Amino acid sequence: MTTDHLTITPSVLYFGTPVALLSTENEDGSFNLAPMSSAWALGQVIVLGLGKDSQTAHNLATHPDLVINLPEPAQWPAVERLAPLTGRDPVPAHKQGAFRYEPAKFEAAGLRPEPSETVRPPRVASCPIQLEARAARVQPDVTGEFRVIEAHVLRVHADPRIVVPGTQHVDPAAWSPLIYRSAGQCSGLQARGVKARAGVPARARACLHPQVTVGVAAARCTA
Ligand SMILES: Cc1cc2nc3c(=O)[nH]c(=O)nc-3n(C[C@H](O)[C@H](O)[C@H](O)COP(=O)(O)O)c2cc1C
Repeated sequence: MTTDHLTITPSVLYFGTPVALLSTENEDGSFNLAPMSSAWALGQVIVLGLGKDSQTAHNLATHPDLVINLPEPAQWPAVERLAPLTGRDPVPAHKQGAFRYEPAKFEAAGLRPEPSETVRPPRVASCPIQLEARAARVQPDVTGEFRVIEAHVLRVHADPRIVVPGTQHVDPAAWSPLIYRSAGQCSGLQARGVKARAGVPARARACLHPQVTVGVAAARCTA
């Protein structure tokens, strides 16, 4: 059987996943906040993929507590403000020029921290879903470039607006994640996206999709 599909070699295999903001604890007891989107759930475990040189990966290797904050679509400008920042000092060589060191990420993003109940890093107050979690395993991926983190979720906080009244369920009709969709010139965020942001904001913005349709399958899967 023939198809008209093209054989392509994309630099990054992102197909479009929800954005999360990870809050973690730095060595000095202050807190870091970083956007990421390579995350998926296995029951009460969230598997996270992080660049090995990120401050977040370094933090989780020694301070396993974290909060996985899920922003809603309208929060894309805060994510954009965080995108060119790293909590790592000095800035790793491959990020030089595209990223700058920023120790106060909450302030830089314009996001308010809110104390967590079971872990030290704070939640992002305005995020509708906040998962307090602990990294149980932090290990290299097969390439050595990333860290694969298995985080056990300890407590889930949900904005009442998105919870089906009287249940433990998130209402998929009321909740939409912010989707980072990488395509074409937007792909390779870490390598190129931030430069694109500075020079061609509209193009970079196209990577953060405020609209997403949540289907019936999501309703059935919601625990
Ligand atoms: C929408 C978005 C999604 C991202 N997804 C990831 C990701 O899944 N994994 C990763 O390592 N970095 C990801 N990044 C890049 C990190 O945010 C970036 O490396 C940042 O400098 C990490 O901050 P830190 O060094 O303070 O931890 C993403 C950035 C944005 C804006």
